[in-house]
Amino acid sequence: MSTTAQLDDVYSRLLSDPGVVLLLGEIDTGKTTFAAELVQRATAAGITAGLVDADIGQSVVGPPTTVGLKLCNGMQDFTRVTLRDADALSFVGSISPRGYMLALVTGVAKLTAAAKEAGCALVVIDTTGFVSGIAGQTLKFFKMDLVRPNYVVAFERGGELELVVGIAERFSPAQIIEVSVAPEVVTRSVDERASFREEQFAAYFGEALSRWRVKPTVFMPTPPPDFDLRLLDSLVVGMEDGKGMCSGIGVLEYDEGADILRMISPITEGVRGLRLGSIRIDTVGRFKGPVDLRRLFRSE
Ligand SMILES: Nc1ncnc2c1ncn2[C@@H]1O[C@H](COP(=O)(O)OP(=O)(O)OP(=O)(O)O)[C@@H](O)[C@H]1O
Ligand SMILES: [Mg+2]
Repeated sequence: MSTTAQLDDVYSRLLSDPGVVLLLGEIDTGKTTFAAELVQRATAAGITAGLVDADIGQSVVGPPTTVGLKLCNGMQDFTRVTLRDADALSFVGSISPRGYMLALVTGVAKLTAAAKEAGCALVVIDTTGFVSGIAGQTLKFFKMDLVRPNYVVAFERGGELELVVGIAERFSPAQIIEVSVAPEVVTRSVDERASFREEQFAAYFGEALSRWRVKPTVFMPTPPPDFDLRLLDSLVVGMEDGKGMCSGIGVLEYDEGADILRMISPITEGVRGLRLGSIRIDTVGRFKGPVDLRRLFRSE
């Protein structure tokens, strides 16, 4: 059977009995293309669909550092541009899962629940290519444990998903559908990935930006007393609405003269608290390096 025919069969099967579909595969295996095609076909068939984008580095829905939910009802075109504006976000603060699994897993669970509450019969969860090693296996285990997918679609080249598919088989009731990666699927270099991420950040911050003073008492985690605020310059922060949802992201800016921090963001409303992230960027999306808050705060 050709790969295309195989994919067509998978789409038909998932649309005939929609549920929560978790995609698994290494980087560059066609997960995002499949996810967009599946929600497009569902929407065209009158099935209410939601896309949960758990890829925090190569985000398609919402800016990088977040898990994003797109509700697809009423959408006609499914492109990187039309999918960018999220209906709900959950902040992770990092561009890779390592060290940030708790925020990633809870974010995916939260947005999957939000999609179901919004009436989605089909919820497609697109993921990072982080599938190997203890960390990759553990991440996927806990995602499945919390989200309880009805289907796991595994995109394989060789035997690289054997362990994680084994975990899905033993520890989750999901039906597992294995797909071989089409030879036409093209790989992207580290530089191409970095530029895509930069473009996604830049598109987010490209809208009219506001700046306002923020006090460190609204931060989570809370900086220690007498903390040098300049150390938080350029940090990505998640803006929380106080009801368990993220309204958007921003970047902190240290004002040397006034010794204060300002928030730069296109979002100005619905912000009760700020979650500190773990990377520095500028507002045209350029990466300025990682931040380890534990070291910065000299804390556990
Ligand atoms: N079935 C297919 N036939 C031909 N080309 C494809 C197919 N699926 C994906 N591609 C192409 O391969 C590239 C990688 O696909 P995609 O971004 O969907 O992979 P991914 O697994 O989501 O990768 P990432 O790890 O970057 O998230 C894209 O340029 C896409 O257009
Ligand atoms: Mg992808």
